[in-house]
Amino acid sequence: MHFEKVSWKELGPLAWQTIEEVGGLLLVTQGKRNSTPNVMTIGWVLFGTVWGRPEIAVFVRPSRFTHVLLEEQPAFTVNIPSPSLSRAVEECGKRSGRDTDKFALCGLTPLYLEGFPVPSIVECIASIQCVVVEKSHVESDSLLPSIREMYYPQDDYHTIYFGEVQAAWKHTK
Ligand SMILES: Cc1cc2nc3c(=O)[nH]c(=O)nc-3n(C[C@H](O)[C@H](O)[C@H](O)COP(=O)(O)O)c2cc1C
Repeated sequence: MHFEKVSWKELGPLAWQTIEEVGGLLLVTQGKRNSTPNVMTIGWVLFGTVWGRPEIAVFVRPSRFTHVLLEEQPAFTVNIPSPSLSRAVEECGKRSGRDTDKFALCGLTPLYLEGFPVPSIVECIASIQCVVVEKSHVESDSLLPSIREMYYPQDDYHTIYFGEVQAAWKHTK
């Protein structure tokens, strides 16, 4: 198993296609040093250049354990699963790291690449390492009412974490 560095731009279209075909991407976070990493399925993610930097924005509701971990350590990896990981995508999208080690449950292997404090996932096609440079909150008052009604009946407004891409990796055999 080997990962090689690639341009993050190459992975944007692949990520988009994977969300459509596999159902989501796998967001990994880790709290304090020596704690267990956690993985959660995400479907809402933006790729682009902001503040002159390559950025990935992820939308995380405050109720997620991932939110607690991101507040503890503002860094994450976005991992692109192959279709064979569709069960992991499903499980990581309904179980919480508060009471389940999802890496163990889904047979996923964490891999720390180049000393980054949050691991990538060995079984994924690709992984992008990001450090949070800004966080914003979805504001009830600025939302289109139809979106508010559809997505926030419990007022669980997302925090948007903008992560500056540090490196992008592709799995080679
Ligand atoms: C396909 C899919 C996409 C999801 N996308 C998001 C998302 O973008 N943001 C979010 O906060 N939750 C999203 N979720 C829900 C979380 O993955 C789910 O609540 C998870 O159990 C949270 O895990 P955690 O408590 O370990 O962080 C999604 C779930 C699925 C099945």
